[in-house]
Amino acid sequence: MTLHAHFGEILHYLPDGRPEYFSDGLLLVDEDSGTIIECTAAQSRPDLPDHIRQTRHPNALLMPGFIDSHCHYPQIDIMASYGEQLLDWLNQYTFPAEAEFADAAHARAVAEFFLDELQNAGTTTAMVFATSHPQSADAFFEAARARNMRHICGKVLMDRNAPAALLDSARSGYANSKTLIERWHNQGRLKYAVTPRFAITSTPEQLASAGKLLAEYPGVYLQTHLAENHAEIDFTATLFPERKSYLDVYEHYGLLGATSTFAHGIHLNDAERRRLGDSGSQIAFCPSSNLFLGSGLFNLSASRALCGVSFASDIGAGNSYCMLATLAAAYQVCQLQGYALSAHEAFYSITQGNAQSLRLDAHIGNFNTGKEADFIALDWQATPLLARRTARCRSLEEKLFALMMLGDDRAVKATYIAGKKV
Ligand code: GUN
Ligand code: ZN
Repeated sequence: MTLHAHFGEILHYLPDGRPEYFSDGLLLVDEDSGTIIECTAAQSRPDLPDHIRQTRHPNALLMPGFIDSHCHYPQIDIMASYGEQLLDWLNQYTFPAEAEFADAAHARAVAEFFLDELQNAGTTTAMVFATSHPQSADAFFEAARARNMRHICGKVLMDRNAPAALLDSARSGYANSKTLIERWHNQGRLKYAVTPRFAITSTPEQLASAGKLLAEYPGVYLQTHLAENHAEIDFTATLFPERKSYLDVYEHYGLLGATSTFAHGIHLNDAERRRLGDSGSQIAFCPSSNLFLGSGLFNLSASRALCGVSFASDIGAGNSYCMLATLAAAYQVCQLQGYALSAHEAFYSITQGNAQSLRLDAHIGNFNTGKEADFIALDWQATPLLARRTARCRSLEEKLFALMMLGDDRAVKATYIAGKKV
């Protein structure tokens, strides 16, 4: 064991959502195993042996690393592309950018840049779309493995309604996904997600093959998009006239389940939310993306009452990969519907809550003994404005709220992956 004692203000969330806070805390980490030994009040361990390495984090808050439950690494170069809603945005900006990932060297370079940016923003785990090229998934997994990061990724399945350069077939998509699952799922900290882009870009045969993969590999994830935009929903209805609803398309092909994540889910009724909940599936709430593409206002409280919900950046339709910006957008989306998202619900959601939604809470999400030591130091005084604003706050909750509304990646002073500073 190589112990490292981190002293500072510490906040994390217990599985039931309650915060545990130490104004003067100790986070004791084993750098060899990359796990947490103990999280406690500093005064309870006055007798730490001198040989243990010690780091003090003044004016900083130690928290578990942020988790992003839905994003697209190949879209980092088209963030902030002007003027379109979902289907035109895909055709005009997204598909041409994704076509460049046929080139494995390009994919590797973008994967490194993306992971650098995630680390700078304090995001230590994400569930990520690659492109339809198997080499784009290999590039991401190789980069994540070299950094010893915990991530979920998958090659996109799409065999219709997109440029030829991006199309696979039901048969090749199935075979390539199988190879990637066997190469990467549960390799170290990595997991695989079967990734049909959405119902519009997959034939019934391809959706059936996605369901087959899930049945053949229990524990493998499923990620796709659902009910984001009205034109998307209408087009889906014309492609699958025999199905009752958009959600019913996915259900028919066996894609719902405890490790299934449906991005957006804005335009759903309560019966559909309940169906998601009953199957153990969850919705990834992507507020900055929904505002950017004009997709609509996700109803967080109505959804959370009936199914699992996680928080996500959805870059590149989202306009920041920083989860603090995601929280700021989430607050505003909720305000427009008369719900005031609290700072504790917000920070729980992007740490322990997202870990639970992604079924990764045995490994990450909080500082309980044995969890993997992915954590960050957040600087209350990162900018002159944050310093002034947080100096006036009378409670932790007020400070956290100021941080989520005013903070950005400058507030992330340090990021640790499996106990090591990056
Ligand atoms: N629906 C299908 N593909 C995409 C995508 O890349 N981004 C978003 N926001 N929605 C999608
Ligand atoms: Zn997406």
